[in-house]
Amino acid sequence: MKNTIKIGIVGLGRIGQIHLANIATRVKNAEVVAAADITESLLDFARRHGVENVSTNPEYVLTHPDVEAVVICTPTPTHVPYTILAAQHGKHIFCEKPLDLSIEQILVAKEAVEMANVQLMLGFNRRFDANFLKVKEMVHEGLVGDPHILKITSRDPNPPQIEYVKSSGGLFLDMAIHDFDMARYVMNSEVTEVYAKAKVLVDPRIGAEGDIDTAITTLTFANGAIGVIDNSRKAVYGYDQRIEVFGSGGMTQTKNNTPDTHEYYNDKGGHLSLPLNFFLERYAEAYVNEINVFVSSILAGENVPVNAHDGLMATAIAMAAKQSYMEDRPVKIEEILSAITA
Ligand SMILES: NC(=O)c1ccc[n+]([C@@H]2O[C@H](COP(=O)([O-])OP(=O)(O)OC[C@H]3O[C@@H](n4cnc5c(N)ncnc54)[C@H](O)[C@@H]3O)[C@@H](O)[C@H]2O)c1
Repeated sequence: MKNTIKIGIVGLGRIGQIHLANIATRVKNAEVVAAADITESLLDFARRHGVENVSTNPEYVLTHPDVEAVVICTPTPTHVPYTILAAQHGKHIFCEKPLDLSIEQILVAKEAVEMANVQLMLGFNRRFDANFLKVKEMVHEGLVGDPHILKITSRDPNPPQIEYVKSSGGLFLDMAIHDFDMARYVMNSEVTEVYAKAKVLVDPRIGAEGDIDTAITTLTFANGAIGVIDNSRKAVYGYDQRIEVFGSGGMTQTKNNTPDTHEYYNDKGGHLSLPLNFFLERYAEAYVNEINVFVSSILAGENVPVNAHDGLMATAIAMAAKQSYMEDRPVKIEEILSAITA
């Protein structure tokens, strides 16, 4: 069996730098042989990690003959065209979430990778977080009995830049999409209906862009369970990421990760450390784990564990949540999917 895979990375912004550094230093059986970003100065980051083939042209990496797999970390609107180009050149693909903001485009990408017989894995990194993995395993092993209620708390420490908000697709498609994927994954059941309430309570500039910054989404699952996700773009105490599953046989939950576990008490009360600041810190290990799984799946000739179908279903739930909030009514996922396939 082949024992290393040569990787090309496009996009060397926040998440691209994380993946490049992880592959160069911590991921087993992989090396970065090419990297591109339209911003020339960012290529130095790749050079510093020993990457020899660098370019301001992403196509150079996506079609490079030495590259066996690509990691796509460019802005969301480029994900589908870059996936298609890489697939046409026989490269396996790891693509950051979301694959696209439109289900039609996700289907185009899905068909391209199927035609080319290459793997496409999506960066739903939270599936590879040790805490969430443990909750998922306990639920799947039946340790909470029949799951009845899922609760996900997902609050950012600060809203993104307004420029990012404009092109992100909004809270449901950009931020809560991770939570919608976790809901399907942890419950091992499809979401069939959502009902969302949302507000602009954090920053009126977000509202001026037609987006919201605070949301509650209730979920109905095919297995009969119900769930609730609460999202906020600003939690003053840091990145709040918790999950709980309650069922006929018990309950399992995870707390936030903190830099340390000290507790301090005085005559005024108690004090704990705040949660790890944001996703780059909180999910540092999950980013390494997900690329390790991508690489090992490719080397073993196995299917990757998070694919275009998962991207499609999470996007469909996000679209249903957005529609539910805008029309103030419950929306079935089937309503979203049948409108596409009609
Ligand atoms: N899984 C996660 O936790 C996670 C976290 C952050 C971002 N993301 C996703 O990753 C993607 C990138 O987000 P980011 O926060 O790193 O953005 P970013 O703006 O920090 O980085 C994007 C980079 O892509 C470059 N770029 C822009 N257009 C390009 C093109 N056509 N070809 C090549 N390079 C191009 C930019 O110069 C920039 O360096 C988004 O789709 C986002 O949703 C995922």
